[in-house]
Amino acid sequence: MSRIIYVNGRYVPHRGAAIHVEDRGLQFADGVYEVFPVFAARIQNLTEHLARLNDSLTALRIGWPVSRTVLPMLIEQIRLRNGIEHGLIYLQATRGVAPRDHAFPRNPIAPTLIISGRHIDRARRTAQAAEGVQLVSMPDQRWSRRDIKSVSLLANMLAKQSAVEAGAFEALMLDSDGYITEGAASTFWIVDQDGTLVTRPLSQDILPGVTRRRVLELARDMGLRVAERKIHLDELAQAREAFLTSATLFVMPVNQIDTIVIGNGGPGVVTDALRTQYIENLGSEGGGSSQH
Ligand code: PDD
Repeated sequence: MSRIIYVNGRYVPHRGAAIHVEDRGLQFADGVYEVFPVFAARIQNLTEHLARLNDSLTALRIGWPVSRTVLPMLIEQIRLRNGIEHGLIYLQATRGVAPRDHAFPRNPIAPTLIISGRHIDRARRTAQAAEGVQLVSMPDQRWSRRDIKSVSLLANMLAKQSAVEAGAFEALMLDSDGYITEGAASTFWIVDQDGTLVTRPLSQDILPGVTRRRVLELARDMGLRVAERKIHLDELAQAREAFLTSATLFVMPVNQIDTIVIGNGGPGVVTDALRTQYIENLGSEGGGSSQH
């Protein structure tokens, strides 16, 4: 099946799909994006991802490129036309095309909308989750509005590249006081030495992860003790477990951070339980409140 991508009102072959050279997304990273997970041929957590898209668009004062009722249909069309069972839908909306000038164009312009889909090898992810992944810590060099899912990902991209070059799976980014913000493309969690599940509270310092929200709900339903507080790098040596969450990773165990082996060096029991429950909820008919 050849890949089909949606660009500004048309479904076109992925090869050769194009936008204008003066798109402000290209010139200024003046745009936002979303990654919608697809599991068992269904878009997951759709309502939450659309709500976050709305927050990102509002923060940058970009209008909705198509109506909120039409967008889910376009997303589903891309899933269908690309035959995606397990994978992701990537959506990018930019302010649109205008002669290069830092300020917004004086006259209203139509936002650019791109929607594409990609398969994920679930078996590979499952194998990774059975082992756990390694992280490398480094300073968080991003701007101060990390809550906006902006396509301006230079610092994230460089952090991830450093991690990969060090043989690790993901970067773990630290604020100027040595507290962990998040991964380059994921939310970070630990089970601390008291057995409490911990993740950083929401603020402009991190992206409000949709998976984060789901996992918090799940943890509370499972009766786990949960705290939203900052985690210091120095605390990791005592942590019982650590894991990452994101739309594409779900719950991914972490077995090592820098030279620190977490717990017994394999996925922890709480992490495993959360991963299993999270995936079960996705697979079930009513899984995710946002099925349409
Ligand atoms: N990344 N933090 C950052 C910086 C992220 O980029 C992401 C997601 C998350 C997790 O958010 P969510 O649970 O809503 O996926 C946290 C996506 C997957 C990406 O950029 O590809």
